Amino acid sequence: MKIRPLWILALVVPASLIIHLQKSAQVFASDDDQTDTGREISIDCGVTEESQDSNGFHHEADDAEFVESGKIYNVSSDDIYANSQEQVWEQMKTVRSFPEGVRNCYTLKPKNGKCNNYLIRVYMSYGNYDHKNSIPYFHLHLGVNFWEKIKFQNVTDIRRKTVVQLSPTNYIDVCLINVGKGTPFISLLELWPLSNSIYRASSSLLPLGLMTCVNLGMSENLKFIRYAADIYGRSWLNGKIDNSKPIYTSEGINIDVKEYRLPSDVLKTAVRAQNVSSSLYINLTSINFTADNEHYIYLHFFDFEEHSNGEVRSMEITFTDTIREPVTLKHEDVRTLVKKIPKGVILNGISITSTPGSSLPPMINAYEIYRALPQPNTPTHEEDVDAMRNIKHAYNIMRISWQGDPCMPIDYRWAGVTCNYSERIPRVTSLNMSSSKLAGQIVTSFSNLMTLEALDLSNNQLTGEIPESLAELPNLKLLNLTGNNLTGSIPKALRDKSTTGLTLILDGNPGLCQTSSCKAITKKFIKPLVASVASVAVLTTIVYISLMLCRHKRKHHSDSKVMLVKKDDQIRLKNQGFSQAELHRITKDFETEIGEGGFGKVYLGRLKDVTQVAVKLLSKSSQQGFDEFQSEANLLSLIYHKNLVSLVGYCDDGDMRALIYEYMEKGNLRNLLSDNNPNVLKWNERLQIALDAACDSIDLET
Ligand SMILES: *[C@@H]1O[C@H](CO)[C@@H](O)[C@H](O)[C@H]1NC(C)=O
Ligand SMILES: *[C@@H]1O[C@H](CO)[C@@H](O)[C@H](O)[C@H]1NC(C)=O
Ligand SMILES: *[C@@H]1O[C@H](CO)[C@@H](O)[C@H](O)[C@H]1NC(C)=O
Repeated sequence: MKIRPLWILALVVPASLIIHLQKSAQVFASDDDQTDTGREISIDCGVTEESQDSNGFHHEADDAEFVESGKIYNVSSDDIYANSQEQVWEQMKTVRSFPEGVRNCYTLKPKNGKCNNYLIRVYMSYGNYDHKNSIPYFHLHLGVNFWEKIKFQNVTDIRRKTVVQLSPTNYIDVCLINVGKGTPFISLLELWPLSNSIYRASSSLLPLGLMTCVNLGMSENLKFIRYAADIYGRSWLNGKIDNSKPIYTSEGINIDVKEYRLPSDVLKTAVRAQNVSSSLYINLTSINFTADNEHYIYLHFFDFEEHSNGEVRSMEITFTDTIREPVTLKHEDVRTLVKKIPKGVILNGISITSTPGSSLPPMINAYEIYRALPQPNTPTHEEDVDAMRNIKHAYNIMRISWQGDPCMPIDYRWAGVTCNYSERIPRVTSLNMSSSKLAGQIVTSFSNLMTLEALDLSNNQLTGEIPESLAELPNLKLLNLTGNNLTGSIPKALRDKSTTGLTLILDGNPGLCQTSSCKAITKKFIKPLVASVASVAVLTTIVYISLMLCRHKRKHHSDSKVMLVKKDDQIRLKNQGFSQAELHRITKDFETEIGEGGFGKVYLGRLKDVTQVAVKLLSKSSQQGFDEFQSEANLLSLIYHKNLVSLVGYCDDGDMRALIYEYMEKGNLRNLLSDNNPNVLKWNERLQIALDAACDSIDLET
C-alpha cells in the first residue's frame, strides 16, 4: 500500500487544524532567506575536514556523509598556479579519484527534498594528481541518467558542468562512470536551491544542462559575474556582440528582479544596436547544438535607458526563419524570454531587430542556453531505495557497487540485487547477501521491500530472532537463512507461509528451535502471547503510520521533536511539559490576547530563547474542548509538515490545560487569503503550496 501523507492528513485533521495552513506564509519567508544564503552544499573534494576558502566560502568535509569510495590526492604543485586566476583555484588543489568500480557516486541530501529545483555543479581539474601525465576521459551521471562526457585538453584545464533539475528524489546522486579510458576524478561539487518556477521550460520536467551563460556589455577587464554576486550560483561569462554598443546604468536598481534573481551587475549592463535600423546578432556557431536534444534559450532584458513620452522598445527576435518572437519593453521593464528549440533544429545565431514602428534600437542584457537531458531511466521505487539504503547502513556495507540507485541503470545495479523492470518504476525482487559478513539482527527494513521474492542471507553471523514481519512480504518465495546464529522459534506466520509456497531454509542455526517440541512449549503461552501480539500489532500500526507521516521531513522534525505518550487520559509530551507557573511567566500573566480558537482563548508568549509562541488555553468548562485538545495534541506531536504549524509543548497542570505553538506572525489562513490583508498570499505562493501538497503524494511523471 502506498501511503500518501497529505491525503491522510486531509482525512484525519480536524477542521480546526486546517487553519494552521497559515504556516505557509512563513515558509516563503524562510525559503527566501535560504536562497539568500546562496549555495547549500559545497564539497571541496579531497579535503576531509570542513573548511573555509580565502573568499570566506564554506565547504563541507569530503567524507562518508557524501561519498564512500575513492582515494584523495593533491594535484601536482607545478600545475596548481596555472589556475590561480580562477575563483575556485584553491578547490582545484585536491581531488578524489575512483580507481575501483565502474560507477562511484556522491549522494547529496538537500534540505528541501524532492520536487524542488536545484542547480548542481561539478568542477574537475586533473593537475597530474597521479603523476602519470595521462588525462582521463569519463562520463558523469545525474541520478540514473547520463549527464555529460568529460574531456580535457590540458593537464591544468578546469572543466565545469552545471545542471538545473527539479529533483525526482530526496537524494541526488552525482555519479562518475569509468568508461575504460582512465580513472574518473572530481575536484569540487556544489548544490544550490533555486526557485521552482524558473528554468522549467513549458511542461518539461527534464533537467537542463548548461551550455553557455553570457552577460553582455561588461567592462573589458572582468571575466565573470558569479557567486556571491549571483545568489543562484550562475557564472556569467563576459561576452561580446559585433557592431553593438555597450550601455550601462550607474543608478541603483530598485525593481523587483523577479524569479530569475539576475545579479544587479547583469541588469546594469547591456548592449544595443548602433541605431534603430541596425540589428544585433548573437553568433552561436561555437555552441555545440545536437540534433537529438531539445534546447532552451533564455534571453534576459532590462530596459534601463530613458524613453521619451512613454515610447516603447519593440523588437523581433529571430531564432530561425520560422521561429520568431516579439519583445516589447517599457522603461524599466525586466523580461526573460524563454524559447524552446525543438529536436533537429541547429541554431547558428539569434538576431534581434527593431520592428517597424519602434524608435529605439534593439538591446539585450544576457543570454543562457541549455540542453534538455533525456531521462530514459526511471529511478527505483522510493520505498525500495530507502529500504536498501537502510539495510546498507545497518550492516555498514561498503561494497563498491552499492552506490547510487539500486536497480538503475541496469548495467550498474547493486551486486546481489535483482529487479523487475516491467513497470515504469523498477522494483527490487531479490536480494542475495549470502556470505557478506553480516552481523547483528535481521533488520525490519528487509520487510519493507514489498515486491521481494527471494531473500538469501545465508552464511553470515546474524543473531537474534527471525522477524515475523518477513511473512508480510506477499510475494516471498525463498528465505535462505542457512549458516547463521539465529535463536528463538520460527514465527508462526512464517511457518504458515512455508506451507503455502514459501521455501524456508534454516539449517545451520544451532540455537534456532525448529522441532515440534518447541511448538508444544509455545502453545502453553499461546493466550498471553496472542494478547501481547495484538497490542504490539496495534502499537506497531500506530508507530508505522506516524513514521510514514513523519518520514518526508524527518530531518526538520528532529529539532522540534515532541514525543507523546498517552496514559490514563493524561497527555505527556517528553521534555515539553509546561507548568502553570511557567505559562504565567511565558505569557506575562496572559497579558496579550491574540485570538479565540476552537476551545478557548489564545495568548502571545515568549520562551526563554525569545521564540514567540501562541498559547491556546483550554477553557475550563468545555469537555468537547478537551477531546479536541487531546486529538490536536496527539496529532500535532506526531507529525511535522511544513504547511502545518508545529507544536512546541503543552500544559496539563492542575486545572490548566494549554497547547503551545510556534507563533505565526502573519495571522491565519483566512487572513492570508483575504484581499484586505497587506500580506495576502500571492498566486505563486498559493501555487507552491499546491505543488508541495501534490508532490508529497504523487510520483513525479517525467
Ligand atoms: C596534501 O598536501 C598537504 C600539505 O600541502 C599535506 O598535509 C597532505 O598530507 C597532502 N595530502 C595527500 C593526500 O598527499
Ligand atoms: C546467492 O549467491 C550465492 C553465491 O554467490 C549462491 O550460491 C546462491 O544460490 C544465491 N542465492 C540465490 C537465491 O540466488
Ligand atoms: C541456501 O544457501 C546455501 C548457502 O549459501 C546454498 O548452498 C543453498 O544452495 C541455498 N539454497 C537455495 C535454495 O538457494
